[in-house]
Amino acid sequence: MSTNESTTDDATTTGDPATEHVLELDSVDSGYGDVQVLDDCSMYLDPGEIVCLIGPNGAGKSTVLKTVFGMLDPWEGTVTYHGDNIGGMAPEDIVREGIGYVPQTDNVFGSLSIDENLRMGGVARRSGLEDVINDLYERFPLLDEKRTAKARTLSGGQRQVLAFARALVMEPDVLLIDEPSAGLAPNTAQEVFEHVEAVNEMDTAILMVEQNAKQGLGISDRGYVLDQGTVRFDGDADSLLDNDEVSQLYLGG
Ligand SMILES: Nc1ncnc2c1ncn2[C@@H]1O[C@H](COP(=O)(O)OP(=O)(O)OP(=O)(O)O)[C@@H](O)[C@H]1O
Ligand SMILES: [Mg+2]
Repeated sequence: MSTNESTTDDATTTGDPATEHVLELDSVDSGYGDVQVLDDCSMYLDPGEIVCLIGPNGAGKSTVLKTVFGMLDPWEGTVTYHGDNIGGMAPEDIVREGIGYVPQTDNVFGSLSIDENLRMGGVARRSGLEDVINDLYERFPLLDEKRTAKARTLSGGQRQVLAFARALVMEPDVLLIDEPSAGLAPNTAQEVFEHVEAVNEMDTAILMVEQNAKQGLGISDRGYVLDQGTVRFDGDADSLLDNDEVSQLYLGG
């Protein structure tokens, strides 16, 4: 978690690049075919933050990440990265810009080795692949020990760590992570959240979707509650955890 507790000021209104949000959605509408999912959705991510996006099934949480990552084009509104409009850019270009994405499912290639998975994560790199992979093996010893093992032989938690490392091969400064704890036992989920914090400490701002709202907010600086494609609540993670309405409606009391 970053030490910057400032959450309410909207820095982009100053137009000062030094205080610009690293990522911002401004009044975004988006969806699939002619089915609208996101409705006037606005949120931002500042450098060094972990921001947690929570909300019920079908609220549009994954759709937010897909819209940022260029898998869906915004119908209305803007998505900006360091102040530049990236709405409508292709995912392969967005990756080169510096945004990584760890999808909710199928985020590693089970039939490939750990090492091959990491190398696939770096196909768009022009140089420095060996150095960055060696650095990732140092940071994640559990991957180092299993370089030649097939990814399908990893446990659920280990697979998530591989998925994070794969995205980090491009050295993003923003990582989008969709439900890192899905399907994991509580202890394993806690370990995965510790890895999310470790990734954040590598100067990577993180926008994370999490069903496990209490644990997700527990490692986050700020949060957004999304319901029916619209942000219903936002604020410091602690203030959301303490909010009675949020607690009753979205945190299971
Ligand atoms: N590929 C798709 N085609 C059509 N509709 C879709 C598609 N993916 C998602 N939707 C719909 O968009 C809405 C939002 O889905 P989304 O996956 O963003 O929700 P979510 O908040 O991530 O939910 P969950 O917690 O279940 O992962 C849902 O009504 C869903 O049925
Ligand atoms: Mg989802």
